Amino acid sequence: MNKTIDIQALIDSKNGQVTPSIYTDPEIYELELERIFGRCWLFLAHESQIPKAGDFFNTYMGEDPIVVVRQKDGTVKAFLNQCRHRSMRVSYADSGNTKAFTCPYHGWSYATNGDLIEVPLEPRAYPQGLCKSKWGLQEVTKVASYKGLIFGTWDENAVNLEEYMGDMAWYLDGVLDRREGGTEIVGGIHKWTIDCNWKFAAEQFASDQYHALFSHASAVQVLGAKPEDEQKALGSGQTARPVWETAKDALQFGQDGHGSGFFFTEKPDANVWVDGEVSDYYRETYPEALERLGEIRALRLAGHNTLFPTLSWLNGTATLRVWHPRGPNQVEVWAFCITDKNAPEEVKAAFERSATRAFGPAGFLEQDDSENWVEIQKILRGHRARNSQLCMEMGMGNEKIRDDGVPGITNYIFSETAARGFYQHWANLLSSQTWQEAKAKTDAYQKTLVENSKETA
Ligand code: FES
Ligand code: FE
Repeated sequence: MNKTIDIQALIDSKNGQVTPSIYTDPEIYELELERIFGRCWLFLAHESQIPKAGDFFNTYMGEDPIVVVRQKDGTVKAFLNQCRHRSMRVSYADSGNTKAFTCPYHGWSYATNGDLIEVPLEPRAYPQGLCKSKWGLQEVTKVASYKGLIFGTWDENAVNLEEYMGDMAWYLDGVLDRREGGTEIVGGIHKWTIDCNWKFAAEQFASDQYHALFSHASAVQVLGAKPEDEQKALGSGQTARPVWETAKDALQFGQDGHGSGFFFTEKPDANVWVDGEVSDYYRETYPEALERLGEIRALRLAGHNTLFPTLSWLNGTATLRVWHPRGPNQVEVWAFCITDKNAPEEVKAAFERSATRAFGPAGFLEQDDSENWVEIQKILRGHRARNSQLCMEMGMGNEKIRDDGVPGITNYIFSETAARGFYQHWANLLSSQTWQEAKAKTDAYQKTLVENSKETA
């Protein structure tokens, strides 16, 4: 079967339609591992997690286990966490500090630079000689950092990380560059699985503010039941009228599979989901954020974001997460709490509490989201269901290029511009021999999109 033709047929972003077998087909999943997770820049770790030589952090690129290690010279390398003898994991703690990685199966040892340095009973077991330099750990082809976030790619022809991020960097800076000193990861990492395809989560964070009105309605009602002065202290503007009516403006951005959306308000502390300490902190640090980021990003409220394919975050609630795929029907969530490095300790603790309460594995908002995704995945077991087209038409034809410093292709926040872009780029990657070929197709799609838009300046 020729998947190249089939995949493009499953995505009709020009007409806003998608066939949901993309969420269930094992053959498509295999192709994703090769052509998405084997080519794209993927988030590995935060610099603050491995500050010293020998510090390591274990993660994944797709389903491949990866160990990220701080080198003696201060640089960072990443390796496939796979012993070259019989494929055992050589680093099995979540994180730590080490001089070497010793395989628990037969005891081969690797230096932190990946070299195979020790083989038990080497002279007797390999009397013919063993060329150890041939059997070092496989190194991730390219590793690069962007303002504290470390990424890796297996693609030797990959464009540099900044080029890969494109205009999404402007949105990511809203988290990473809010204050002098940058960011750090606070506390441990929450890890859990959800029985759904990874794309439901990644796409929702790229493109879907719409679900919040309904899926999170009960949470909004609980907050709405608070005394009015308390609501005012939260500064959400949700007291009398919904935020989409009171916000100064709202936008969605979609480009190269990345997506972001947020409201921005009159007040710098306007976030409904966080503790009072956090609201105070936003208020107090607003002048610095304004100077560094400009008004639109300094005033953003609860923005949702995905850097294609699987790094997502929410402005204001400090959750940064990776959607590690686990077969077509399961995703493993890794949720980090990211805060400004220069925030006071009690504010960092408040961010951690807020992130856990709202978006931890039992978070009151997280549960609303995963309940939907799990149910959808069950429905798609049905042959008829998984071959019935879904509507993705929201906001079609209303894309525009803004003239107020907001970069990229944008739309009103209630839109599926970013979702259509996400799936179009996804299909382009699966049906192309190289990332560059896929990008050229995505560029052509985006060019047409803006040219056809009614509101293009
Ligand atoms: Fe690692 Fe044998 S599998 S030493
Ligand atoms: Fe949600």
